Amino acid sequence: MKQILVTGGTGYIGSHTVVELQNAGYDVIIVDDLSNSSIDVIDNIEKITGKRPDFEKFNLADAAKTDDFFNRHQDISAIIHFAASKAVGESVQIPLHYYRNNLVSLMNILDCQLKYGVSNIVFSSSCTVYGQPDKLPVTEKTPRKDAESPYGNTKRVNEDILQDTIKAYPQLKGIALRYFNPIGAHPSALIGELPLGVPQNLVPFITQTAAGLRDELKVFGDDYDTPDGSAIRDYINVVDLAKAHVIAIERLLENKNKAGYEVFNLGTGNGYSVLEIVKGFEKATGVKLNYKIVARRAGDIEKIWADTTYANEELGWKAEKGLDETLLSAWNWEKRVRGIE
Ligand code: UD1
Repeated sequence: MKQILVTGGTGYIGSHTVVELQNAGYDVIIVDDLSNSSIDVIDNIEKITGKRPDFEKFNLADAAKTDDFFNRHQDISAIIHFAASKAVGESVQIPLHYYRNNLVSLMNILDCQLKYGVSNIVFSSSCTVYGQPDKLPVTEKTPRKDAESPYGNTKRVNEDILQDTIKAYPQLKGIALRYFNPIGAHPSALIGELPLGVPQNLVPFITQTAAGLRDELKVFGDDYDTPDGSAIRDYINVVDLAKAHVIAIERLLENKNKAGYEVFNLGTGNGYSVLEIVKGFEKATGVKLNYKIVARRAGDIEKIWADTTYANEELGWKAEKGLDETLLSAWNWEKRVRGIE
């Protein structure tokens, strides 16, 4: 059985991907420093799949620990690298932390891949690399723009680090997956998104408002050039997203990739406005949301959604879950975490 290293595997997208990898028959070893996740996630993954992933706690920006790990685990076939700091606002306050954590960890992993002969890596990137595109929907060929935040810049620079390293060392192969807006939770409600402190992202803020943890949702801006004036994003179910990682791993392991370094957009191809998400949540769950329109949030773009043709055709992957089901799964997760019947 092939073993896959999942860095950041106790985090939101990482944990869902571990479940799908195990369901597909892979052995998984997780490395996570638990800076933004809980060790309990391992128990819940085991409850879902019946298999307990291996786990080691350390930060991959530590070169010595990373080297020691790869030295002890020479049976790893591929890596999915999720581990990173991801709070956009915080990255503006403490940029050096973001650059060090996010860039150095990837470089340490690539060093070890070369040293210990691990060919394959999937990198967790973001549609943030497109900024506000001139033309919608965005394809993988849409030019990248200057990042709005140090966080966004780490995604862009890490893509370049990966691409340049693969170019220099043809024994390496890598896929960067550009996620649009991942939302929702596993249908079991055993794993999901659990932000520390006040949520920055829309759907966790919505579910926490519905659960009574927050007084009201602030809708950032209703004066955008969109049909209802609120900003548009491409919201993708996290389980659909996780499944794309399994396909990317198979593509690398079976040498089906067309180039050493490849990039795929992972979205649904549909854009929804913030107000459509609010209404969609109320409809899917029957819970009324207290919300108010406020000024735009600094750094937000107006609208983006994916052209998914390349991922659909080349990976044979398509987002399957609808918005209602996805929003309901987010609510079921929040209810379980808060003990709401
Ligand atoms: C942000 C990041 C993106 C990152 C992603 C996941 C930016 C520009 N992009 O995406 O790089 O990968 O988070 O962490 O920061 N909204 C509200 N009220 C809220 C929260 C959000 O109206 O309380 C609105 C936002 O203005 C936006 C939409 O909801 O229009 C989605 O916001 P969010 O979930 O934070 O994701 P992004 O900003 O798209």
